[in-house]
Amino acid sequence: MPFIHVPKPWQLPERDVTPEAYFLNRRRFVKGLVGAGMIGSFVPLLGCQQQQASAEAALANTNQLNASSNPNFVEVDRPQTNELLAATYNNFYEFGGSKSIWQNAQALPTDNWQVEVTGLVNKPRLFTQDDLLSTFPLEERIYRFRCVEAWAMVVPWLGFPMRALVEAVEPTAQAKFVQFTSYYNPEVTKGPDFHLGGLPWPYTEGLRLDEMTNELAFFAVGIYGHTLPKQHGAPIRMVVPWKYGFKGAKSIVKIEFTNTQPSTYWNTISPNEYKFEANVEPDVPHPRWSQAKERLIGAGSKFSWEERPTLLYNGYGEYVAQLYDRPNQV
Ligand code: MTE
Repeated sequence: MPFIHVPKPWQLPERDVTPEAYFLNRRRFVKGLVGAGMIGSFVPLLGCQQQQASAEAALANTNQLNASSNPNFVEVDRPQTNELLAATYNNFYEFGGSKSIWQNAQALPTDNWQVEVTGLVNKPRLFTQDDLLSTFPLEERIYRFRCVEAWAMVVPWLGFPMRALVEAVEPTAQAKFVQFTSYYNPEVTKGPDFHLGGLPWPYTEGLRLDEMTNELAFFAVGIYGHTLPKQHGAPIRMVVPWKYGFKGAKSIVKIEFTNTQPSTYWNTISPNEYKFEANVEPDVPHPRWSQAKERLIGAGSKFSWEERPTLLYNGYGEYVAQLYDRPNQV
């Protein structure tokens, strides 16, 4: 377990210590990322809160979005996460390896955004940012969100079901999988390995086609009543709430329908730790930590976030259990 700080019971929990990355030189940090996945990059929440004023400024650059609430997804079994907290505690490795990348992420150039939909489809299309906001009816869905690092939130997303886009482009009979590619430009996205190389940029993710057409699978173009702030993956990102958060690629520029399973970022880095399927399964530990429990960010006290048992499929089994062959479908 290289470069991972294992706290003794009397030490502060990892979320309250200075991120280990800051103690490592860059080369070791890249190796650490590869060996340690994402767990070694926590930033003290307190620091984030001190920057609240500028975070509010970052949120102010978004536009209000109107969307009707989907009655199937109006509440969950836990409170909604504070908006500023969600907007200042992010994973977006293109912009750095800590949780406080929201300022760096403001460099993301979202003007004239285009999403290319290509591959095994009858009607390939190029969506502009306006198209993304106007082609499909927008709705709001409040979803649980579970990161593989064992923290969790509840977020009100605005967007449209992935299924609507699938129907619009008409996949051919050969299409079985879909690859999603995030924006990448090393001049802008100066993440951990900008100078060293070695990580499989651009960030990619993938789904089976039957997962993408599941009722839950969602493209978010907004959050908390407005367009997405850049740190959350403006202008469009994936939301697949029964899977770990890393499956939700941000700032998508390309969607490609394929007949073989596409390569994906974390699975390429460490296939044993980050599976392609990556469903939330409390009884399947990550090789280096348990997934039985999760911490609700912002809930409880600042120094001890509330813990809850992890729910199979993050609590969405009624929608997705039939997609998978699991011995114990609780
Ligand atoms: N998408 C891109 N392009 N780059 C990333 O580093 N991180 C993933 C996912 N999508 C990531 C990404 C991970 S690990 C998580 S937990 C979620 O984004 C975090 O989303 P949030 O910051 O909006 O909460």
